[in-house]
Amino acid sequence: MPSTSLPGGTWTLGDLNVTRFGYGAMQLAGPWVMGPPADHDGALAVLAEVVDLGITHIDTSDAYGPHVTNQLIREALHPYPESLHIVTKAGATRDQQGGWPPAREPENLRRAVYDNLENLGLEVLDLVNLRLGNADGPQPGSLAEPFETLVELQRQGLIRHLGVSNATAEQVAEAQAIAPIVCVQNMYNLAYRQDDELIDRLAEQGIAYVPYFPLGGFSPLQSSALSAVAARLDATPVSVALAWLLRRSPNILLIPGTSSAAHLRENIAGAALSLSDEDRAELDKIGH
Ligand SMILES: NC(=O)c1ccc[n+]([C@@H]2O[C@H](COP(=O)([O-])OP(=O)(O)OC[C@H]3O[C@@H](n4cnc5c(N)ncnc54)[C@H](OP(=O)(O)O)[C@@H]3O)[C@@H](O)[C@H]2O)c1
Repeated sequence: MPSTSLPGGTWTLGDLNVTRFGYGAMQLAGPWVMGPPADHDGALAVLAEVVDLGITHIDTSDAYGPHVTNQLIREALHPYPESLHIVTKAGATRDQQGGWPPAREPENLRRAVYDNLENLGLEVLDLVNLRLGNADGPQPGSLAEPFETLVELQRQGLIRHLGVSNATAEQVAEAQAIAPIVCVQNMYNLAYRQDDELIDRLAEQGIAYVPYFPLGGFSPLQSSALSAVAARLDATPVSVALAWLLRRSPNILLIPGTSSAAHLRENIAGAALSLSDEDRAELDKIGH
């Protein structure tokens, strides 16, 4: 298994070895994830740095921009190093107002898979997450029809592995009854811990849990307890939040988003921060 000096070591998604410290590419598009970035060359430089630093897991979606983020990834990194694995999503699109309406009819999902292949310049997608729910979070209801559409595209050889995103625990179980999944990507961070039980259950099954908004997303994490622990450790709250997540469970993969190479380097150093039992006990109280 390839080794890494990145904090957290590696994890295997199906048969894909990835660094647990990954990179979330959503912040590379323009404001509110619409249109091109203000600094095109800066965005390409961040992606080059991701690979130079040894990160082998990039999370993206063709809805970012839309298309912009995938095209930047292709421009910066294609042909891709063999070790690099790009994880994408299908199931949501963008509207004129920058909203994220669901797009989970079979034809929407086929289109999304072909668009991802084209914009990333790939013949096979390593991992596609079926993006469920809506911008308010997971919503109950059967995922059978859209998930079976992706399973069919997997059978056709266009997708290696499947996952689900923005999913309830019931939908995760429903997907697993249809076909194997290798990850669940849901919102989770130090202050938002709806999925604690699900994370532990997936860890027992050897399935990755990939928290989105690990730093709070569009509303940065704020908590006096977090600030107190950070001050005591002479670290930033961002560092403490990442270090806490990495130690929360071995199946957690980090995909913090940034449009800044300096933040990327800070976040790697931050995730390596050592937390005492006392620090962790104090942090654990935040989300409960
Ligand atoms: N499945 C889904 O439905 C879904 C939804 C949302 C996101 N995602 C995925 O999850 C990934 C992570 O989520 P996210 O990027 O939205 O949120 P996030 O990682 O929680 O936070 C990103 C924000 O934190 C800032 N930041 C990062 N490092 C920093 C540092 N060291 N100091 C100060 N600020 C820092 C970034 O600003 P700078 O750019 O200035 O660094 C950005 O504004 C996304 O990239 C995307 O791939 C998935």
